[in-house]
Amino acid sequence: MKFGPRGSRHALQLQAVVAILDGNFLSPLTYPNAMDQVLNYVEANRSRYLDELKELIAIPSVSTDPQKKGDVARCADWIAAHLRGIGMQTVQVFATAGHPIVYADWMGAPGKPTVLFYGHYDVQPVDPVNLWTSPPFDATIRGENLYARGTADDKGQVFVHFKSIEAYLKNLGRLPINLKMIIEGEEEIGSEHLEIFVREHKELLKADLVLISDTPMFARGVPSVCYGLRGISYMQLDVTGPNRDLHSGSFGGSVHNPIQALAEMIAGMHDKNGRVTIPGFYDDVRPLSKKERRALSKLPWSDKKYARELGVRALYGEKGFTTLERLWARPTLESNGIWGGFTGEGAKTVLPSKASAKISMRLVPDQSAGKIAKLFQKYIKKIAPKSVQADAIYIHGGEPAVTPIDSPGVKAAVAALEKGFGKKPVYQREGGSIPIVVQFKQILGLDTVLLGFGLPDENAHAPDEFISLENFFKGIRTSVHFFDELPLYMKNGHRRRG
Ligand code: BES
Ligand code: ZN
Repeated sequence: MKFGPRGSRHALQLQAVVAILDGNFLSPLTYPNAMDQVLNYVEANRSRYLDELKELIAIPSVSTDPQKKGDVARCADWIAAHLRGIGMQTVQVFATAGHPIVYADWMGAPGKPTVLFYGHYDVQPVDPVNLWTSPPFDATIRGENLYARGTADDKGQVFVHFKSIEAYLKNLGRLPINLKMIIEGEEEIGSEHLEIFVREHKELLKADLVLISDTPMFARGVPSVCYGLRGISYMQLDVTGPNRDLHSGSFGGSVHNPIQALAEMIAGMHDKNGRVTIPGFYDDVRPLSKKERRALSKLPWSDKKYARELGVRALYGEKGFTTLERLWARPTLESNGIWGGFTGEGAKTVLPSKASAKISMRLVPDQSAGKIAKLFQKYIKKIAPKSVQADAIYIHGGEPAVTPIDSPGVKAAVAALEKGFGKKPVYQREGGSIPIVVQFKQILGLDTVLLGFGLPDENAHAPDEFISLENFFKGIRTSVHFFDELPLYMKNGHRRRG
């Protein structure tokens, strides 16, 4: 790996001055020139930073695709090599029963807070590939954005921090904090093996807080701190009718078509008020407080604009709640895919033996993924017509999370966003899921700061995913400021400022 010519001599001189002053590292904030040096390095290396990100994006690390297992492993190795190149002290690739986990640390700031950074290098599949404007793994700049699978979710956002760390280590030889990192390869398929890893490495992962950049900002030009994620229970529903495919003329009318039975079951899963009909589904839902509803209603939002941007004639959702409440604080049930019978070109008259659907439910506190999956399975047994066999399999799940907004970490994030984006951030929740957040709290006792640099229209999980170049570079500046600000807000886990 090559690095720019800047840095090393100045870094050594500055380090020497700092060391002479009190033998201790002081924040670049205390040495404005040091901060300038770090930020100027970021500016001077913009195009190399993008070239390197393109290299990372070019590795098709699709975790759900068994044929891509080698690419996923190659991606883990690329990340490990890159982390060594930017100056992380320990870098290790841990094999798991699934895809590898990359661990790295830099622990050279005794007495300063320790950040546990988490991100994922795996990506979602690219289908339908014909809907991409440019090849999905060939990162391409169009207008103000960089387009490719993983640009926003999550390689681009992870890379933001790699480049801020590099800027510190190449210029000052130090970070203002201690840093541990885990970058995993199974987030997009439910982080199955990460939980075991965290349980088995409690000592290694000891830290003061978790930092994650894997969420969108509220809007272009509106930075945000995210304090809530929904959980998920992901199910597959299989409906089986006759023991083989049948001629739809010879047999149609005599047996229940599994596609029809499946469609009837799915159609009954919502009532006319847009509520999920599974008995007990809402039992554990924590109601929104008046205070939070008021706060959400103050965010700059227009239903009309939202509907127009999505190209829908009207919005749809649970009666009695605003769109942001429906998205962030209410549970939902969605069909993700449905198949069965003949879907090829032309016509084939068949009454299929089987029909299936992938159905996910997004969850909010205090619902639990396992309990909801069981309620779904029980409900399926109840509503399945006698004429077919229906089975619901629990594929994966993750718990919902709400994180505190008055923690020192969040305060440092607010200050950093203000410096990085030149604007005060808003507070928001999100509808997506990051299953490990709750496990970090339960296993390590750590709260998470969600510092997102994506955008709501970034096409994550869809064709033409992108990251805004402005967010990428402002994100790097924000990361630099976050590491710099954190020690000022936190000392031995206690607040110092704010
Ligand atoms: N980056 C997302 C999480 C996310 C998406 C947060 C949108 C906020 C808004 C993450 O990579 C993701 O897609 N997670 C999966 C998790 C699931 C497979 C367990 C998700 O939410 O579908
Ligand atoms: Zn994702």
